[in-house]
Amino acid sequence: MNYNKKSIEDIDVAGKRVLCRCDFNVPTKNGVITSDKRIVAALPTIQYLIAHKAKVILCSHMGKPKGEWKPELSLKVVAARLSELLGQEVIMAADVAGEDAKAKAAALQEGQVMLLENTRYIKGETKNDPELSKQLASLADIFVNDAFGTAHRAHSSTAGVADYLPAVCGYLVQKEVSIMGKALANPERPFVAILGGAKVSDKLNVINNLLEKVDTLIIGGGMAYTFLAAKGYSVGTSLLDSEKIDYCKEMMAKAEAKGVKLLLPIDTVVAASFPDPIDGDIAVETVPSDAIPADKMGLDIGEKTRALFAEAAKNAKTVVWNGPMGVFENPTLAKGTIAVAQALADSSATTIVGGGDSAAACEQLGFADKITHISTGGGASLEFLEGLELPGIACLQDK
Ligand code: 3PG
Repeated sequence: MNYNKKSIEDIDVAGKRVLCRCDFNVPTKNGVITSDKRIVAALPTIQYLIAHKAKVILCSHMGKPKGEWKPELSLKVVAARLSELLGQEVIMAADVAGEDAKAKAAALQEGQVMLLENTRYIKGETKNDPELSKQLASLADIFVNDAFGTAHRAHSSTAGVADYLPAVCGYLVQKEVSIMGKALANPERPFVAILGGAKVSDKLNVINNLLEKVDTLIIGGGMAYTFLAAKGYSVGTSLLDSEKIDYCKEMMAKAEAKGVKLLLPIDTVVAASFPDPIDGDIAVETVPSDAIPADKMGLDIGEKTRALFAEAAKNAKTVVWNGPMGVFENPTLAKGTIAVAQALADSSATTIVGGGDSAAACEQLGFADKITHISTGGGASLEFLEGLELPGIACLQDK
């Protein structure tokens, strides 16, 4: 896929109405934003548009209201936070592309900013309905996509609208794509990828694609047990994708054929059962990964594995990490994930963390500023690592 896309700097925005798709899908608790990372990440583009005298019309989804007008998923909280961050009013529309949005967009002055309501309040959004795309497009003269986190969705506000307006990317999309794109296309070597998370089936294509590119592939987390089973080890009651055992065998053979080092856990933290509650006390022991007792469940990587994985990260020049090493919501079972986050923070390599749980782990541990790039995308960064075309980027004008 061609990621050489026109950006906001390649188009004259002065005096124009610019519809800018952001990913303001931020976590909230009792109506309060718990991480404004995605709002902060959108600021450079919004500030550029303001400084260059655009009339800025922002839009985003939040959550999955599925066409219902759920008040708890209103973007009003985002407008309030964004106003604070920008130091100027963000005008909130009462609808998405309806009468209020139209009137407010028409009245917008240069340098003013407005925000449409949650695009997923309209059913057509996730169906990429051309009617909604046209309505959104009718509000503006130019479309800017800066929602990297939603770039893997072909929705009206992320892709469809680009059929009706000149479409370019913002700084966040540009940054995500250039850092991750360079790492994949032209990495400084050794290039190490660390994959974790629960299921092999979620990362089939990521594993396959990364084996074409990396020098070392490290597999931890729940998905490692299917690889261990493929090696013929008994994994007790650990999470097992039994249908994917052959796939894991295939991937191990591919790694060998390509001369890629495939590192699996050599020791495993086990317990009698999954922690309940997830963050509750739990009695654990560490066993060799080829000797997991039949009645025990693997829930984190052991100490020797942590050292092995950290060593690989230390010697790398590029490291990509996606997915936790264990049940990191539980302090006893978070040690493997913490060790990987620490190894990346200590490494002088270019370090890239895919969004979601591994990004949250780096942030909670206070390592965020020691990582070269933490993606704002969860699913989007995974699809990027798979080498898939992201519709929200493919729809933009080539340079
Ligand atoms: C995300 O949080 O990964 C993005 O905002 C996309 O959200 P979605 O998975 O609901 O499409």
